[in-house]
Amino acid sequence: MEGVDTCTANGAALQDTFLSHQAVQCGFCIPGMLCAATAALDRDDVHSMDDARDSIAGVLCRCTGYQKQVAAIHDVAQGRVACRTDMPATGVAVGTAVTRLDGLAKVQGTDSFGADGIPIDALMIKAIRSPFHRARFAIGDLKPFVARHPGVERVILAEDVPGLNVHGVAQAYADQPVLAQHSARFLGEAVALIVGSAETIDHDDFGDFPIQWESQAPLLTIDDALSADAPLLHDARPDNILIHGRVVSGDVDAGLSMAAAVVEGHFQTSFVEHAYIEPEAGWARMDGDVIEVYSPTQAPHPHREELARILGCSEHRIRVIPSAVGGGFGGKLDLTVQPLVALATWILGKTVGMIFTREESISTSTKRHPATIDSRIAATADGTICAIDFHGDFNTGAYASWGTAVANRVPVHASGPYKVDHYRALTRAVHTNITPAGAFRGFGVPQAVVAQEQMIDELANRLGIDRLEFRLRNVLRAGDALVTGQVLPDSVGIEACLLALKPRWEAATAEACAANQSAAAKRLRRGVGIAAMIYGCGNTASTNPSTIRMGINRAGDVILHQGAVDAGQGSNTVIPQIAADAFCIPLQELKCVDAATHVTPSCGRTSASRQTFVTGKAALLAGQQLRAKVLNTLGQEPSANVTLTFGNGLIASEGSKLDLSQLPANEFGYVMMAEATFDPPATPLDKDGQGSPYAVYAFGAQLAEVEVDTHTGTTRVLRVTAAHDVGRMVNPSLLEGQVEGAVAQGIGLALMEKFVPGVTLGFRDYPIPTSLDMPRVDTILVEEPASIGPYGAKGIGEPALVPTAAAILNAVSHAIGKRMYDVPATPEVILRALDAPPS
Ligand code: FES
Repeated sequence: MEGVDTCTANGAALQDTFLSHQAVQCGFCIPGMLCAATAALDRDDVHSMDDARDSIAGVLCRCTGYQKQVAAIHDVAQGRVACRTDMPATGVAVGTAVTRLDGLAKVQGTDSFGADGIPIDALMIKAIRSPFHRARFAIGDLKPFVARHPGVERVILAEDVPGLNVHGVAQAYADQPVLAQHSARFLGEAVALIVGSAETIDHDDFGDFPIQWESQAPLLTIDDALSADAPLLHDARPDNILIHGRVVSGDVDAGLSMAAAVVEGHFQTSFVEHAYIEPEAGWARMDGDVIEVYSPTQAPHPHREELARILGCSEHRIRVIPSAVGGGFGGKLDLTVQPLVALATWILGKTVGMIFTREESISTSTKRHPATIDSRIAATADGTICAIDFHGDFNTGAYASWGTAVANRVPVHASGPYKVDHYRALTRAVHTNITPAGAFRGFGVPQAVVAQEQMIDELANRLGIDRLEFRLRNVLRAGDALVTGQVLPDSVGIEACLLALKPRWEAATAEACAANQSAAAKRLRRGVGIAAMIYGCGNTASTNPSTIRMGINRAGDVILHQGAVDAGQGSNTVIPQIAADAFCIPLQELKCVDAATHVTPSCGRTSASRQTFVTGKAALLAGQQLRAKVLNTLGQEPSANVTLTFGNGLIASEGSKLDLSQLPANEFGYVMMAEATFDPPATPLDKDGQGSPYAVYAFGAQLAEVEVDTHTGTTRVLRVTAAHDVGRMVNPSLLEGQVEGAVAQGIGLALMEKFVPGVTLGFRDYPIPTSLDMPRVDTILVEEPASIGPYGAKGIGEPALVPTAAAILNAVSHAIGKRMYDVPATPEVILRALDAPPS
């Protein structure tokens, strides 16, 4: 066992209890958590929940929100050591809080992340990167440089790329070079790779690399990029606009004319870093004429396609093998380290690895788009929303990445979970010379919700209607049409979510009101906020299939090939739960093959809250089809309600037995196999954004309680209550974990986090919430089954984050009577707002 000291009884007890509490997601922080907590327990320092929280205050976790870890540590301190949950019986895996199936390696510290597998003798890479936001450059004679560094085997430049020196998640918009040539478009862009021995790469000073830079005036803001004399980042994109998004229905002017109240606001949100604790790392090696690329990726098959284009070879010559992923949240969807190690290995024929420094990771990886939003919302006197007029500009940085997805998704979602007859939402993704912005848990929707839900509060206040009641009056219900014209047949749980929050809303509002009467209230103001959301699961208005393979081998093993990368969210557990129930086998008897392009069919990307819904549905279909084949072979009806047992080369069913050893095996070694694909039905949007962009939508609402210190401007989040309609709970405790982790990220988005290229270079400059920043989080899971989902289930990964920041900002406004237009609402922003005259 590496990394974790389990020599003490407390250490071993913590490992078990972390597992039983589902205190583990990606697992990257867990060895550090366990060491810190074990030391505190061994010192007898933990006597309360606060002590437990203190014990891990120095260990960052970006996934969990710390709730379950703190509870686990406290339990061990109290002598309550828990073991993992029992495995569920046949047919009831779905709905059971099964301990995550891949958790043991994570608490034992033996899981293999991107850097862990790099062979000791691998060559390593140092990237030469642009020190300027925008610059031209010329590389000089490399021979003297290489001669001065005997451990350097090769310097790789753009012209060495054998295929296309370009990548991008949307192929039609692919524009990011693997290595920039002649000019760099953002600070930190790679322009050359030095490949050499690990010792050389670690210790040599490459300050003598022969390169001449000519710095140019950068375009850093949307205003810079859209100014009349702005240079173009990409010749093919006039006005530096990557793409426009648009959803229009009804007549906004007519809607506004009906209004008793109209509110409007101009909002600015910040550039937000994913801050996954594991920096990018990976390696590649040749296996004959096949290259194997190992890395923490959220998108193995799409990465294989992109690498084939870069290397100029067939996809069959590439295996993408995901390592454990130490947090992703959308940031490991794009290629980062993969083309660099693949290129060096392909050219040199040798094993090559690379580990990004923290500064390299933060400076060059994609982020949440900074947004500038103008919003206007109108309602009639009875509190019915009669018009929404929204415009959002998203700073997409130097390259396209997921800018197209953000610009297209936001207009569909800027209505919130409300019925709106007159609607106009226009967006633009604008190129600048900042780090490319990409996918980060919500594809721009959390930024839109920050604006829209604050405007909803303003409108309710203006009309003198309780803010939760105002939302209830306008929510969508089954049978209603969205602003895209799509009619939702079922699984519209927003009303249920708001009603679930109502008791806490009333109590919290009364408590805040009482607290604000106290003597301390002149300085410390309490506030309560709420925000609601809708979120389409899956890619927007496009195909996004997943394929699951299940087979039975001659030994009688039932094997599930599931290619949905588990970046901590739980697909390595949830997909087997669904498959086991569909096939009617005890979960523990199912053997699982995890994602890798040569052993699992494509399950697309782990993004867009699609894996439980899309891959889960494929698993349901594959399980049902395989069972039907088995029953057919046994001469039974496909729907026969019989118990099947497997093993020792046999399938047995109530008196009949099938000897598998005599059956022919297929190319995968299976005597019986099913492969099922599910592609959720969605239609392209027309020029006004009308159509059915998603097959299913998640709904939710969150309630935040805060205390604002009006002297310092600091905000403490006291409690968050989150209600989410998940369709059907597949694994309740994993769902809770997603919500708790999202709340932590939402606190960062609302109050703390602001990435500045070239300035915020690590966690010292870019603080994220620690265990001490976390409030109590209560999760209420609502089940409004989606008829199209597996057992009714839909996604939670992004929906859990979408309303958090808006709920907190509404609570801050409730506390101090000032609207938060600049986000994050740092102490400076709050103090500035307090100083501003009443609006
Ligand atoms: Fe803590 Fe992922 S579980 S960083």
